[in-house]
Amino acid sequence: MQTAANKFQEYLGTEPAVVHAEYKHIEGGASMKALAWFGTNDVRMVAAPIPDITEPDDVILQVTGTTICGSDLHLYHGEIMALQKGDILGHEFMGKVFKVGPNVKNLKPGQRVVSSFQIACGKCEYCKENLSSFCDRTNTSSLQNYMYGQRDAGFFGYSHFTGGFPGGQAEYVRVPIGDVNLLPIPDNISDEKALYLSDVLPTSYHTVVDTGVKPGDVVGIWGLGPIGQCAARWAILKGASRVIGIDRIPSRLQFAESKTGVETIDFSQFSDVTKRIYELCPRGLDVALDCGTFHEPKTFTHKIQKTLLLETDVPETINEMIVSVRKMGRCGLIAAYAGFANAVNVGALMEKGVRLIGNGQAPVRKYWEEILNEYIIPGKFDPTFMITHRVPIDDLAKLYPAFDKRIDGVEKVFVETRFSSAPSSGCPRTSRVDDWKSI
Ligand SMILES: NC(=O)c1ccc[n+]([C@@H]2O[C@H](COP(=O)([O-])OP(=O)(O)OC[C@H]3O[C@@H](n4cnc5c(N)ncnc54)[C@H](O)[C@@H]3O)[C@@H](O)[C@H]2O)c1
Ligand SMILES: [Zn+2]
Ligand SMILES: [Zn+2]
Repeated sequence: MQTAANKFQEYLGTEPAVVHAEYKHIEGGASMKALAWFGTNDVRMVAAPIPDITEPDDVILQVTGTTICGSDLHLYHGEIMALQKGDILGHEFMGKVFKVGPNVKNLKPGQRVVSSFQIACGKCEYCKENLSSFCDRTNTSSLQNYMYGQRDAGFFGYSHFTGGFPGGQAEYVRVPIGDVNLLPIPDNISDEKALYLSDVLPTSYHTVVDTGVKPGDVVGIWGLGPIGQCAARWAILKGASRVIGIDRIPSRLQFAESKTGVETIDFSQFSDVTKRIYELCPRGLDVALDCGTFHEPKTFTHKIQKTLLLETDVPETINEMIVSVRKMGRCGLIAAYAGFANAVNVGALMEKGVRLIGNGQAPVRKYWEEILNEYIIPGKFDPTFMITHRVPIDDLAKLYPAFDKRIDGVEKVFVETRFSSAPSSGCPRTSRVDDWKSI
């Protein structure tokens, strides 16, 4: 799939963009540790050239914290198009400003900042409304334009389908248009509290807000990874009366029950999830949020269809959600989808008046200051609840399969570099993936 996608992209040429993915290397040829993609289930630590200021709005960061995301697993499984061997991954990271380009006005070397996972221009129609993920001017992918009619912003470390920008699972990273895409962090907010403003916090907040959770709602959440765990908390903060979480990983079900008070359904025990939801909630859900993953088909039919490339994505969660919500209920898709799924229950969607909302890639700039100032600083939302592990950057290649198999109760990981501070009080100490328990 990758070869065909890359060939087609080459044939289509590139779309115009105001920033470019290729970076200059720092003088002297010094290298840094970085995690690069080489093929399906094949990621490796490499020595990559340290980036230098390449365009005048650039900022170079020394990374003090990075992590792995469920979205990275789609890359690991080769499910996102236009990956190339040697691509540096990672779209969630923070750091200290190391160098600034001549046009950068608001940032100085030494300042602590968190990066948005998307690269926004700050000036287009979408950026004017802080819809940074939908920026029109930072992604050269004609393939995405061809498939979707329009294209998202460029993203860090997320294939050439989103611009081919080197990512932040590295010791240094170049952030184009730094004034727009970096948020300064106050001294009294730890790295562990700040890092997840990059993606997980705005993303989980966005699905709850964009799908319209309101006081009294009964909310179902498919998938209890970091996005689902945070979405459950946001739903409660927005007044949900009940949250029902669906997953099959025992540690994740238990985590949601004990830390957030979520009622759970283990779909390895209740194979008919919809039936179980109606037993728990005869009226049906008001809101359903898809925080799962399209690369884990549940049924034999969809495993076969996917293997035969008759579909790229699966509709199983979408169908469960459409059937489980009440008439005129709302369903939000924040889980990533890439292409096509067969046998969507379009009848139930139409007849019940279900509002099926593609939440899109979350616009980080729309929410990150609100989340920092109104929730993290006053202590209303402490993101450290989801951090289960901290590992050194050297372990990143081993972290991919460990996170993929969800071993040792892993939820969210803090990945440290030689530039990181010591772990904050109450947060996990450094461990090695080799020492994690396999169940
Ligand atoms: N739209 C965005 O801006 C955005 C940003 C970040 C992540 N995401 C997406 O959100 C999703 C969740 O991310 P994460 O980091 O929490 O991922 P994760 O892989 O850690 O968690 C996904 C969870 O879904 C569960 N799951 C799989 N199939 C399921 C099913 N049929 N029913 C119920 N649960 C099921 C898995 O067991 C797992 O616990 C991913 O698809 C990711 O790509 C989207
Ligand atoms: Zn992410
Ligand atoms: Zn823009």
